[in-house]
Amino acid sequence: MKNTLAFDVYGTLIDTNGVVFALQEMIGDRAAEFSRVWREKQLEYTFRRGLMNRYRDFSVCTREALVFTCAALQIDLCEANKKQLIETYSVLPVFPDVIEALENLNTADYGLYAFSNGTADAVKSLLEHAGILCYFIDVISVDEIKTFKPDPAVYHHLLKRCNTAAESSWLISGNAFDVLGAKSAGLRGVWLQRNSSAVFDAWEGLSADATISKLSGLDGAIRSL
Ligand code: 2OP
Repeated sequence: MKNTLAFDVYGTLIDTNGVVFALQEMIGDRAAEFSRVWREKQLEYTFRRGLMNRYRDFSVCTREALVFTCAALQIDLCEANKKQLIETYSVLPVFPDVIEALENLNTADYGLYAFSNGTADAVKSLLEHAGILCYFIDVISVDEIKTFKPDPAVYHHLLKRCNTAAESSWLISGNAFDVLGAKSAGLRGVWLQRNSSAVFDAWEGLSADATISKLSGLDGAIRSL
C-alpha cells in the first residue's frame, strides 16, 4: 500500500529562525533570543486558541506573539520593523536538507502532502517561494476545520483529506508536540530532530516511531520499521 507522508511546515521544512538575520540588523545580539520567544509564544497562542475555541488564523497568532515578545523582552520595535518581520515570515528559508530529500521521496512509493497550522494560501506561497510546492500532492491546513494542532480533529481531518488509513499515514515533524498529537490520534510519526539539544517530551508510552536528524534519513527509517 502506498504510504502517505504528511510534512509539517514551520520548523520542519521551513526554518522559523530565518527571521534572525533581519532581527540582528534591528536588535543585534538579542536576535536569537527574540526569535525563540516569538516562536514559543506563537505556538502557545495556537494551543490556547484551540482549547478556548477562539480560532483565528495562524497569522494572527504570529502577529500577537510578536507584540508579546517586544513587551516581554522590553524591546521597542518601530512599526516598520514589525512589518518587515511579518513580511520576512512569509518568505522564510527552506532547511538545506529538504529539496534533495523531497526529490528522492517523490520517486519512491509515497504520496507527499504539506500539513500545517498555517492557512493553505500562506503555506502555498511560502513553499512556492522556497521552491518546494511542486513536490506535494496538496497543502492541507488546520484552517479548514478552524482549530490547531495537536487537536485530534486535525489529524483525523488529514486522513480524510488524503483518503488514507492511519496505519499507512506518517506525520513528519520537527515539532515534538505535533508528532505526539499524530501518534495519539493513531497515525505513524517521525520526529525530525532539527536541533541536537531538543528533547522529545514523550508521555504515557507515546513516542515517535523513528527519530531522524536529516530528512534524507526518512525513507530508510520508514523501511526499517
Ligand atoms: C506547523 O503546523 C506546527 O507550526 C507548525 O506548520
